[in-house]
Amino acid sequence: MSYPFKINSLEQYYEDYKNATDNPEAFWANVADNFYWRKKWDKVLDWNFSEPKVEWFAGAKLNITENCIDRHLEKFSDKPAIIWEPNNPDERTRVVTYARLHKRVCQVAQMLKNNGVKKGDRVCIYMGMVPELTYAVLGCARIGAIHSVIFGGFSAQSIADRLDDANADFIITCDGSYRGDKIIPLKDVIDNALVGNKTIKKVIVYTRTRTSVSMIKGRDVWWEDEMDIAEDQVEKNGVVSFPAEEMDAEDPLFILYTSGSTGKPKGVVHTCAGYMIWTTYTFVNMLNYNQGDIHFCTADIGWITGHSYIVYGPLAAGGTSLMFEGIPTFPNAGRFWDIIDKHQVNILYTAPTALRSLMSFGDAPLLGKNLSSLKTLGTVGEPINEEAWHWYDDNIGKNKCPIIDTWWQTETGGTLIANLAGITPSKPSWATLPMPGVQPIIVDEKGDEVTKLDDQGMIKGNLCIKAPWPGILRTTWGDHERCRLNYFATYPNLYFTGDGAMKDAEGNFRITGRVDDVLNISGHRIGTAEVENAINMHTGVVESAVVGYPHDIKGQGIYAFVIYNGHHGDENQRRQDISLTVAKIIGAIAKPDKIQFVSGLPKTRSGKIMRRILRKIAEGETENLGDTTTLLDPDVVAEISKGRV
Ligand code: WTA
Repeated sequence: MSYPFKINSLEQYYEDYKNATDNPEAFWANVADNFYWRKKWDKVLDWNFSEPKVEWFAGAKLNITENCIDRHLEKFSDKPAIIWEPNNPDERTRVVTYARLHKRVCQVAQMLKNNGVKKGDRVCIYMGMVPELTYAVLGCARIGAIHSVIFGGFSAQSIADRLDDANADFIITCDGSYRGDKIIPLKDVIDNALVGNKTIKKVIVYTRTRTSVSMIKGRDVWWEDEMDIAEDQVEKNGVVSFPAEEMDAEDPLFILYTSGSTGKPKGVVHTCAGYMIWTTYTFVNMLNYNQGDIHFCTADIGWITGHSYIVYGPLAAGGTSLMFEGIPTFPNAGRFWDIIDKHQVNILYTAPTALRSLMSFGDAPLLGKNLSSLKTLGTVGEPINEEAWHWYDDNIGKNKCPIIDTWWQTETGGTLIANLAGITPSKPSWATLPMPGVQPIIVDEKGDEVTKLDDQGMIKGNLCIKAPWPGILRTTWGDHERCRLNYFATYPNLYFTGDGAMKDAEGNFRITGRVDDVLNISGHRIGTAEVENAINMHTGVVESAVVGYPHDIKGQGIYAFVIYNGHHGDENQRRQDISLTVAKIIGAIAKPDKIQFVSGLPKTRSGKIMRRILRKIAEGETENLGDTTTLLDPDVVAEISKGRV
């Protein structure tokens, strides 16, 4: 497959950027011509950010799985679509060709249909990183059911909240999943999440770990049994088929829950056509993907990175996507390098937190590993510090591979700002230039564009985007007003990212981190309010305040200040109890790294917690805490500062 929309030179980047800005409809219609449509669009783009309303390719009909699978069958039926590496290197690698992927996805679609799933139904997927997870995602898309994948690290309570919010009808899960030397009992977590649930009709259970599970008659069915039945239905005389549902361009494709600064996670909704085009276009261009390349994205499909750059982008491009079940440090810290060596990986796309963690093991895990197949290195999810960038460049890329720093969000569907591998220059710890179609601006608190360079030659402020690109979120599930308030109301007629940024005189962007109360823990988004709510549910906790602090490996750690009025155990036991409560309410990923017990919190006279002060204390700053005179009780600051843990 060739990619006529691929940017091949710096000049072409500037030209495409200009065309996509000046005439987006013509530009994107051109790109869209490289996809398979049942019917082409009536109008390329219709939008306003005040409602907000964004429609790309309205009137067009398609099914994303025909673009990700069927259209590749003629030429690439034997080409690997997915290469799967298990958690345990002694277990067999699985290579899934496009023909095999087609068959499995047809089977899943048939299995879902047999179990009563219809177009528009919500199917929650809570599985480990097995190929069946990809089949499940694409099987949903094939029949037009809306998938909502939940990361395996979330607790039963978190799942229950998401099932409720999405009014989910079905669940696909595993008995358990392997994670390093642990087994996560996924079905058991689902059972707990389903206590009191009234909407789920069926739970399909794939056997991965052969962990014992309860199976409720009439509700729970085994994946293997159902797939056997479906196999006979979709395969006749050696020909496999399951007609894909015809979808409108703007029909929802999936919901993915993500944390914000307030309340419970929101269900970000992406739609069929725009998301497909955006993930494919960005995948090919940022990573400089060429036919035949083996692409290894180390993310989990439970996060947006996995959706866009393990499943949809690479497959729509007819690529080969390497999917990894394990963790970077099991059975040892050489696991990534073994996989790259074994499969002659060309592109590695990973998170700075993984690099920092691997860096700490020194050179030994790299010894004897042949990494010469690598051509492009990428990072995603959080700012990359210069030390990690150089380590990546020297030790992994051997100074021969461009490193791309890709900035984007669950809401943006795919990358918005990144250097293009081998085409536009890189700059350590800078995401650099926007993709064609992306118009970022930096605004001040009032929403006015900052245009004047400061004395360091930079423009600094809050990052917004002026116009829609095809992959922008369309709504938050069940609550459009929440979408408007969260992203489109802070600054009129702009999409507000929640990130702070700076821009240099050449137009390069550097993302400095969230300016709202959202933390980024090992590249995972967690709202401080969510963690506080969970801590406050612990008996004996009167009040709490959560802030982030710099953490060598995770990027940010969670620091909790807690007012506690109970009598159980000593301080350490209380800390563990509180952590366990957080793990039950949200999941282990949200456990505080540090808990400090305090007698009061710094509050203004109107009762607002002054997080700025707490953040400084958590960062280790004891002097220069700023103006504390407006506090209700200024003395509390000295006490907190003294008791820092
Ligand atoms: C942060 C992940 C700096 C940012 C794809 C954003 C980054 C949030 C980068 C979205 C980067 C992501 N440099 N910061 N290259 N990439 N971020 O929704 O704060 O899980 O708002 O999407 O991660 O996280 P999310």
